[in-house]
Amino acid sequence: MSNETRKSETYFADQTMWGFVHRSFTKSMGYTEDDIKKPIIGICNTFSELNKCHSHFNELVEHVKRGVWQAGGTPMEFPTISLGEPYIKPTSMLLRNLMAMDTEEMMKAHPIDGVVLLGGCDKTVPAQLMAAASANIPSIILTGGPMLNGRLGGESLGACTDCYRFTLEHKAGNLNDAQLAEAENAICRSDGHCMVMGTASTMASIAEGLGMALPGCAAIPAVDSRRRHMSQMTGNRIVQLVKENLKPKDIMTKEAIENAITVTMASGGSTNSIIHMVAIAQRLGMKLPLETFDEISKRTPFLLNLRPSGQYQMEEYFEAGGVPSLMKELEPLLHGGCMTVTGKTSEENLMDVHVLNRKVIFPLAEPMEPDGGIAVLKGNLSPGGSLIKKTAVSKKFFQHKGKAVVFDSFEDMKKRIDDPNLDVDENSVLVLKNLGPKGAPGMPEEGQIPIPQKLLEKGVRDMVRISDGRISGTSYGTLVVHISPESAVGGPFGLIENGDEIKLDIHDRLLQLLVDEEELEKRKSKWVQTEPFYDRGYGLLFENTVLQSELGCDFDFLLPKELRDELKSSI
Ligand code: FES
Ligand code: MG
Repeated sequence: MSNETRKSETYFADQTMWGFVHRSFTKSMGYTEDDIKKPIIGICNTFSELNKCHSHFNELVEHVKRGVWQAGGTPMEFPTISLGEPYIKPTSMLLRNLMAMDTEEMMKAHPIDGVVLLGGCDKTVPAQLMAAASANIPSIILTGGPMLNGRLGGESLGACTDCYRFTLEHKAGNLNDAQLAEAENAICRSDGHCMVMGTASTMASIAEGLGMALPGCAAIPAVDSRRRHMSQMTGNRIVQLVKENLKPKDIMTKEAIENAITVTMASGGSTNSIIHMVAIAQRLGMKLPLETFDEISKRTPFLLNLRPSGQYQMEEYFEAGGVPSLMKELEPLLHGGCMTVTGKTSEENLMDVHVLNRKVIFPLAEPMEPDGGIAVLKGNLSPGGSLIKKTAVSKKFFQHKGKAVVFDSFEDMKKRIDDPNLDVDENSVLVLKNLGPKGAPGMPEEGQIPIPQKLLEKGVRDMVRISDGRISGTSYGTLVVHISPESAVGGPFGLIENGDEIKLDIHDRLLQLLVDEEELEKRKSKWVQTEPFYDRGYGLLFENTVLQSELGCDFDFLLPKELRDELKSSI
């Protein structure tokens, strides 16, 4: 037990008029004199009817509370904003930093000694980890868990990898309206977040890999009774964390971050997670260059046979043992000494863990692929870096040269992509500009540029597509994303013109515009900055302060001051 005065004691043991007010107002809600002497545990409930992935959180919270009471703490539930991917326009990414700010300030401003953060949908867990890093009070992430597998005609369906497939086949004329509606009804059949290894599952795995969630938390289906137990254990454990005074900065060390990246690479995790990991590391005062991801990717075999890069989904992952079993397999590549929210090291957590299904979690010695899922590309088109999820790429495009077909914005692409007169063939490189953090704004997940109708009808299902935007973690295809600097800040990507030749070489980690320097200089001198999107409010704050993707798309003023000063030249 730490000797430090708990934050709640400074409120409830206070002998001034304010202590009177705190005690009186709190007791009026039914808490007793005894309750307010115990560690006060904030439970951040992000239930929202605008967020399908958190629809069951009110129930989970009750189990967390039970755990808190049992361990001798007093739970107090509070809300923050909640971000559900499907509704938020122009993109949920615009609001991740707002949620991180909301969460951090709620954690800091109240008489709470520790926090359980309930997250699930894509941007929520990153926002909460960023907040926990900055607030640095004892915290545990409790993810809501994935949906059960969708089912239709004996087939296992995954959101939203199959959402793309069904829409595509409908557009190609292979599915009628009734069949499409049937698929819509079958794909999401329970509470929970997307059940492929998309961003939500990746971030839940990262929370475990970092040591910020209890082992096994990520993969338990949302509606499995064992998630109730996990919720209760999490409530139980946060009280001990307060007593041990174990804080996020003690857990999220450089080594823990490397462990989380190793888990991501072995899982075929989402490219979005790279932006989030960089943002989390920076909140902790650490720089996390894209090269670190590439180095770890090169030395980490791809082991997890989950969609969109493999065959199965989170439900089978859970049955195979979940993240602890994957980490057991990866043990030789992990730092074993990292402290975790269990109060034990990552190595201690993995004692007695086994892999229960080798079709889902491959052996380290016989991996699905010898290296990791994500490659970082450099070259004259993306001096700041760009990403490709190579496990979801068609093998024929690993080395490719093609002529650019350029779209200046998402709207321009939507207008022209299906035009029968569009000068495009299956070897073309589709280029979509102005999708970046400032340009779109908010770096939306529009990087999965649709295949033009006329090529779809010819049976084409993949092409090389490049953008300064993001893709959903559930996407598949040859998609180069996060090109930095983005076109809206004058990056070379903005200078591509129709017919330019572009070279992609994933083995050599290269994305190159085959246009000579002189010509590029000429184009640069004619380049004009687009008008800002917002003239007031949060959008303006976002546009003025958001960092480029390789710096995590955080706001510059949210970085610790020392790091901000150090990075001054690049922000
Ligand atoms: Fe929430 Fe996919 S929509 S995780
Ligand atoms: Mg998503």
